[in-house]
Amino acid sequence: MPYPKPTLKRQTFNFNTFDEYAYDNRDRTAHRQHGNRKRKKEKQQRKEVVAALTDLQDNIAEWVPTYCASLDPQHHERQWVIDSIGPFYRDNIVTDVVSIVKGGKEANVYTCLAHPATGLSHIAAKLYRPRMLRHLKNDAVYKAGRTLRDAEGKQIKGRREKLALQQKTKFGKEVDIQWWIGNEFRAQQTLYAAGADVPQPIAHIGNTILMAHIGDGFRAAPTLSETGIVRGEAQPLFNRIMDNIALMLENHLIHGDLSAYNILYWDGEITIIDFPQMVEARHNPHAFDLLQRDIQRVADYFARYGVAADAQELALGLWQPYMGRDF
Ligand SMILES: Nc1ncnc2c1ncn2[C@@H]1O[C@H](COP(=O)(O)OP(=O)(O)O)[C@@H](O)[C@H]1O
Ligand SMILES: [Mg+2]
Repeated sequence: MPYPKPTLKRQTFNFNTFDEYAYDNRDRTAHRQHGNRKRKKEKQQRKEVVAALTDLQDNIAEWVPTYCASLDPQHHERQWVIDSIGPFYRDNIVTDVVSIVKGGKEANVYTCLAHPATGLSHIAAKLYRPRMLRHLKNDAVYKAGRTLRDAEGKQIKGRREKLALQQKTKFGKEVDIQWWIGNEFRAQQTLYAAGADVPQPIAHIGNTILMAHIGDGFRAAPTLSETGIVRGEAQPLFNRIMDNIALMLENHLIHGDLSAYNILYWDGEITIIDFPQMVEARHNPHAFDLLQRDIQRVADYFARYGVAADAQELALGLWQPYMGRDF
């Protein structure tokens, strides 16, 4: 069968008259001019955005919170605080850092002034130290049965990330720190939403978590270990903590490091803090032991005030019905 011959189409002008051609050409010129103006405007807009961003960064670069102004400019804490809290200053959540609440092995906590838009007067900023991992050697107990998640809470699936974690490379350590911090923040969000006595979580970026500041402008709330309570309030406070432990378990969470050191006391009320080591009750093989230890430590504190409590009995009282449930 003969191959069909391709028909060549010649490009022809469709203008019937010279006038029509000229008109069309004028149209094209106008179109081109319009395009140029549009591109120029876009370029200008881009320039303005870049200028605004540069302004923002300059703003942070110049930001010296009150607390930092009192430190030696050479002191590493000064830049660490500015770098860690700066992004929240830029985002209009925090306006100043006024004092340090406590410096610990793993983290420092600072009292900040809140931006009026937050509706709060003060905010607590918890800054994790880069070397916190050294103190979390025992993390296998807490991590058992957990899915690896990154700072945004997304499951870590990448081979590179998993390898880095196993081999504890610098990148692996960063992933690990993000994992702990993201974990603390998510646990706090879950508990706060469930109505537990925990500080309202506000935001987290990098090594820093922001939350409601317990206390007032002059003083942060002391921990139970730092303050005395009166005998009459001991039993109701103990019951309240047990209710919180039960509520956590209902949400499949066990604090894992609960004690008088991680419970704040203010105005006759308790607030539970410090959640990075929180465990998932359904999957962690050490869940019951950790639950019992949490209750034991709290009971030890309240025993001084005449509260009689059998930690094992209380732990079983929560655990058995929990295990009997359908998940
Ligand atoms: N929301 C908060 N409001 C007031 N003080 C806080 C708050 N969170 C923590 N603190 C103080 O900071 C200290 C350390 O915080 P915590 O979360 O227990 O960290 P870590 O024990 O890992 O250093 C606490 O003992 C408490 O005195
Ligand atoms: Mg603590």
